[in-house]
Amino acid sequence: MRRPYRYLLGDSRREAERLRAQARLWDPTAHALFDRLRIGERWQVLEIGPGQGSLHLELRRRVRGPIDAVERSPAFASRLRRLWRRDGFGAGALWETDLLLAPLPAERYDLVFARWVFLFLPEPERHLRKLVRALKPGGRLAIEDYHRDSFALIPRPAEWLDFIAADRAFFASQGGDVNIGGRLPDLYRRVGLSVVEVTPTIKVGRPGSPVWNWLSTYFLGVMSRYAGTRPFTRAQAARLRRHWLRAAKEPTSMMIAPTVLDVVGRKPRG
Ligand SMILES: C[S@@+](CC[C@H](N)C(=O)[O-])C[C@H]1O[C@@H](n2cnc3c(N)ncnc32)[C@H](O)[C@@H]1O
Repeated sequence: MRRPYRYLLGDSRREAERLRAQARLWDPTAHALFDRLRIGERWQVLEIGPGQGSLHLELRRRVRGPIDAVERSPAFASRLRRLWRRDGFGAGALWETDLLLAPLPAERYDLVFARWVFLFLPEPERHLRKLVRALKPGGRLAIEDYHRDSFALIPRPAEWLDFIAADRAFFASQGGDVNIGGRLPDLYRRVGLSVVEVTPTIKVGRPGSPVWNWLSTYFLGVMSRYAGTRPFTRAQAARLRRHWLRAAKEPTSMMIAPTVLDVVGRKPRG
């Protein structure tokens, strides 16, 4: 029997605030993707896991109407309904459940979009097949997700590789993959999509920069959960935290962020 899926980051107020700050840094990258997709008025669009909803609102603005969503968090879903009342574009369909359980219509959408959802999901191919079924012939699936392996703190702390292993293991504990972005092109082909775009974005930041603050908020926030995830010990976590905070006072320190890949596939016509 399959294990029930548990979403690792939850929907606390603190996590909601982190998502909003993260979106301020990364939404321009998604907007550039939306420009390249040439999203038109009245397109039928589905977003998976909109979270705090900044891109959901942007997609509504671009189609000049409602779009649909699947969002498992009741708190995030009710925020989305509140946001819908403000922009005058009306209510879309909102499935407040896990993607695999959502009764999505067949061949409905011109575009299905998801940012930072697939890294959490077990059985990504099964999830992709569900989305392909919901696309119209000729419709596109656009996913933004991590190829985490570019992540580096410079100078590199002694504990780094074990910390990176713990990061992977944390997501793998629920069947997810922090490097899912790099696997998506092959997975797309396997589910019958032709891959039409793979675009990387790598951000780099010095102490005090928005990139440094974004990465520090997440990784220092989860450090105590990673500590003890083999091979990363509690003592290593304590040392790494001290190194990180010291590095933040050194202007020559640098962080190279996990790469975000925009991976776009098209469903064949006919
Ligand atoms: C890291 S957040 C990203 C939120 C938003 N896409 C963004 O880019 O800011 C992941 C989101 O996916 C939702 N989520 C996670 N697993 C899901 C699933 N199996 N089905 C639907 N939504 C899911 C979470 O509740 C959360 O809103």
